[in-house]
Amino acid sequence: MRVRAVRALRALRRVALVLPLVLTALALLLLPRPPAMTPAARSPAATAPPPLPREEPHNQNEVLESTEELIEGDEIGRRPWYMRGGEQRPRHHDPNAALFPEDAPGEDRIVEQLTYTLPKDEDVPIKKILLANGLSSWGVPGGRTEFIRNKCPVDRCSLTADARDAATADAILYRDHHTPFNVKRPPNQIWILYYLECPYHTASLRSSSLDVFNWTATYRRDSDIVAPYEHWVYHDPVVTEKDLDRNYAANKTRKVAWFVSNCHARNRRLQYARNLGKFIQVDIYGACGSHHCPRTDPHCVEMLDRDYKFYLAFENSNCRDYITEKFFVNGLQHSVLPIVMGARSDEYAAAAPHNSYVHVEEFAGPEELAAYLHRLDKDDNLYNSYFKWKGTGEFINTYFFCRVCAMVHANERRQRTAHYSDVQAWWRGNACTRDEWRATGDTRDNG
Ligand SMILES: *[C@@H]1O[C@H](CO)[C@@H](O)[C@H](O)[C@H]1NC(C)=O
Ligand SMILES: *[C@@H]1O[C@H](CO)[C@@H](O)[C@H](O)[C@H]1NC(C)=O
Repeated sequence: MRVRAVRALRALRRVALVLPLVLTALALLLLPRPPAMTPAARSPAATAPPPLPREEPHNQNEVLESTEELIEGDEIGRRPWYMRGGEQRPRHHDPNAALFPEDAPGEDRIVEQLTYTLPKDEDVPIKKILLANGLSSWGVPGGRTEFIRNKCPVDRCSLTADARDAATADAILYRDHHTPFNVKRPPNQIWILYYLECPYHTASLRSSSLDVFNWTATYRRDSDIVAPYEHWVYHDPVVTEKDLDRNYAANKTRKVAWFVSNCHARNRRLQYARNLGKFIQVDIYGACGSHHCPRTDPHCVEMLDRDYKFYLAFENSNCRDYITEKFFVNGLQHSVLPIVMGARSDEYAAAAPHNSYVHVEEFAGPEELAAYLHRLDKDDNLYNSYFKWKGTGEFINTYFFCRVCAMVHANERRQRTAHYSDVQAWWRGNACTRDEWRATGDTRDNG
């Protein structure tokens, strides 16, 4: 009875939605033709009829306001669970999913880890994960909450910070430091080393700790569990550009801006910025420059978006894969074009949306870069081509603990063993340079 009433209501809604279209069409046919409009007044979008509602027998959406929202909401729902509004969850266990570095060399495997799931028909035991530095340093509650509330596809894990669990935990996660628990290590216990910062800003490990780790979790793409500052995913991998609905060059009167507080970075970025300033206007805000406007003041951010064409998203260190919020948030999430310095050019290409930045090492030096920026400044089409990625995807939550849980389970199923014979050599060996990458004669993986 209820079902029929709902169906009838839906049918009525459809009629109600289509009726104005039908009437408009009839009116256009029957009424005398209106005076011809000038072509300029008619945009193609204005003449195309709005899309009709789609037949959706299993549509579980709430009553929606318009046909457009119906279609939009539906498409968003078809996205994977880790995207905004996405509802697609992995259904089938794939024993060969590319989860570990050797499964897909050079890939971050984040999406594969987020879409891994266990066989539905098995009663899988809970894995205990001990956070050696406590729960608060991670901002997570103990127990299974973190896995349940995030609706992890693999949620059969429990977090603990109790040292008494060291003898029985399935995995121990160490953050920045390694202070071993005073108990015998069970043979299958997985030790994970997490670093948030780059090698210059992490402490060295004791020599007795070099060969004890099974996995790493850092921003680096060749970590077992890649934990980047932000992670971009396209809604449709073949659609990497969209037509723009605005001109990003409009009304901008200033050239290059930079908000910076640390004037002594290891990569001499300040020197580069000052040299660049000899050839194009570079306004340096903060302790190292002559302009003042605190980044935390919303007016400053507004001014950046409104007045400036370019933003120096320079990292404080040139380290492999080291790309932080300076680029993802201060740069990409504003309407300025980020000029980047930090990781190698091909590492930015792997992590950033298509055509979203300019890398300093694409140019011989500041003078040549400035010449290109002047060219962009004069050519609005070329400038705007750097913003076409907007709206083609999103920065996702990479659900770190969901992935840790999935990996611990998958590792056991595969009976996989692995460990770093010298985790410091992996972390520090040729990872950073105080110079430009090309000055190191860099040819990738040269040691
Ligand atoms: C540029 O300025 C004009 C006039 O103030 C305004 O109408 C327009 O919206 C501005 N364009 C952008 C992209 O901000
Ligand atoms: C973890 O690493 C240790 C050596 O540090 C090794 O003996 C053990 O087999 C590894 N375990 C797994 C599950 O990879």
